[in-house]
Amino acid sequence: MPRVTSLPARPAALEGRDLMQAFGPQVVLRGVSVAVQPGEVVAVTGPSGSGKSTLLHLLGGLDAPQSGEVHWAGERVDVLGTQVRAQRRAAQLGLVFQHHYLLEDLTVLENVLIPTRLSGRGDESRARALLGRVGLTGRESAYPAVLSGGERQRVAVARALAAHPAAVLADEPTGSLDRANAQAVAQLLVNLAREEGAGVLLVTHDDRLTRYADRTLHLLDGQFTDEAPDFA
Ligand SMILES: Nc1ncnc2c1ncn2[C@@H]1O[C@H](COP(=O)(O)OP(=O)(O)OP(=O)(O)O)[C@@H](O)[C@H]1O
Ligand SMILES: [Mg+2]
Repeated sequence: MPRVTSLPARPAALEGRDLMQAFGPQVVLRGVSVAVQPGEVVAVTGPSGSGKSTLLHLLGGLDAPQSGEVHWAGERVDVLGTQVRAQRRAAQLGLVFQHHYLLEDLTVLENVLIPTRLSGRGDESRARALLGRVGLTGRESAYPAVLSGGERQRVAVARALAAHPAAVLADEPTGSLDRANAQAVAQLLVNLAREEGAGVLLVTHDDRLTRYADRTLHLLDGQFTDEAPDFA
C-alpha cells in the first residue's frame, strides 16, 4: 500500500493580516486582510482616497502598519529591521508605483537590472527580453529623462519582474499607457503569475486588467466590501 502523505501547503506569495493604518485622526485602513496565492492575480479597486496606495505601501513593507502583519512567501516581514526587509524585498517582491522611481543616473537597462544586482536572481538576457515585451527594444541605453511618462512606467514594470519575484505589487500600472502598451503590460503580469507562479496584486480601474484577474476586491471605508460599488 502506498503511504498517503499530505503535501506541505505552499505559503501565500503575499499576505496582509488585519492591517490598520491611520494618519492623525483619519483612519484609512480598518483591519484589511488579503492573501495572494502563487500564480494568482488579484485586482483591487476603490474610490480615490480609499487607501489603495496606503495598502500597497504596507504590503510592500515601505511603511509600517499601525497594527497587523505582512508576510512575503511565508515569512513575516513587518517585524524585520529596515535593512533585512530591504534585502527580502529585493529577492521576493516586484513593485510598480504610480510614480516610476527610476534612477535618473542609470540607463534603462541598468535600472531594470537593479533588483537582479541586489538579489542575485535574474540576468541581463531576462532584463532585455522583458524590455522587449514592453516595447522598449532599442531604448536600453537611454536615460529616464529622455523617456515619455508611459515609457518610464514600462521600464518600471520590466524592473519589477526582472528578479523572478514571488509577488508583484502594482499601483495603476497601465494608468498612462495607450491601448497596445496597456495590453502588453497586462499580459506580462498575467504570464508572470501563470508561468512563473508569482502572486500579483494590482490596483486598477482598467478593465483590460481586471478582466484578467482571478478575483477583484473592492476597498471602501477602510475595508474590503463584497459588492462592487459604483465608483468607476
Ligand atoms: N503619508 C500620509 N500622510 C497623511 N495622509 C496620508 C498619507 N498617505 C495617504 N494619506 C491619506 O490617506 C488617504 C488614502 O490615500 P491613498 O493614497 O492610499 O488613496 P488611494 O486609494 O490610493 O487614492 P488614488 O486612487 O487617488 O490613488 C487619503 O485621504 C490620503 O490623503
Ligand atoms: Mg493611489
